[in-house]
Amino acid sequence: MNTAPLHRLVYTSVYRAGRVDNALSALRAILSTSRKNNEAANVTGYLIFDGDSFIQVLEGPLAALEATMARIAADERHRDVSVLGTHPAETRLFREWKMGGYRRTPQQDPIFAAHGISGQIDPSRVDFETAVSLAQALSLEEAKHTR
Ligand SMILES: Cc1cc2nc3c(=O)[nH]c(=O)nc-3n(C[C@H](O)[C@H](O)[C@H](O)COP(=O)(O)O)c2cc1C
Repeated sequence: MNTAPLHRLVYTSVYRAGRVDNALSALRAILSTSRKNNEAANVTGYLIFDGDSFIQVLEGPLAALEATMARIAADERHRDVSVLGTHPAETRLFREWKMGGYRRTPQQDPIFAAHGISGQIDPSRVDFETAVSLAQALSLEEAKHTR
């Protein structure tokens, strides 16, 4: 059992198009690695991707978050990695899956709009609380369709 205090971290970044990978295959590769690593490290979270930008919420023991974030920050598949905050958290918001995948579809536009994002994500205008709330809303919406 892991009793280290729980923390939540949010970062944004911008997808750097690969020479071989398209965005969807890059996302699939990221998700499968993340599921495996995050499960082993007791890290949960949610990844938002709109084809250009990423917003990721990660939660778990602080040391595990820092190790995960160090690997992510060094990943050349994205750039302008900006950590918006790392804060103590009482409970996990994303406990049912280790990492939900999300590729933005027009059906989810109202959820983005309700969080002040109309059109593409502008990472410079996303803050910690908005990112967490958006990820939660998207994961709840996604859960409705995957049960
Ligand atoms: C947008 C983005 C999100 C990522 N999220 C995670 C993550 O949550 N957990 C993780 O272990 N790796 C994540 N990665 C992948 C890491 O950058 C790195 O490639 C991976 O952790 C290496 O794992 P390996 O040493 O097991 O191959 C992410 C990469 C990108 C570009």
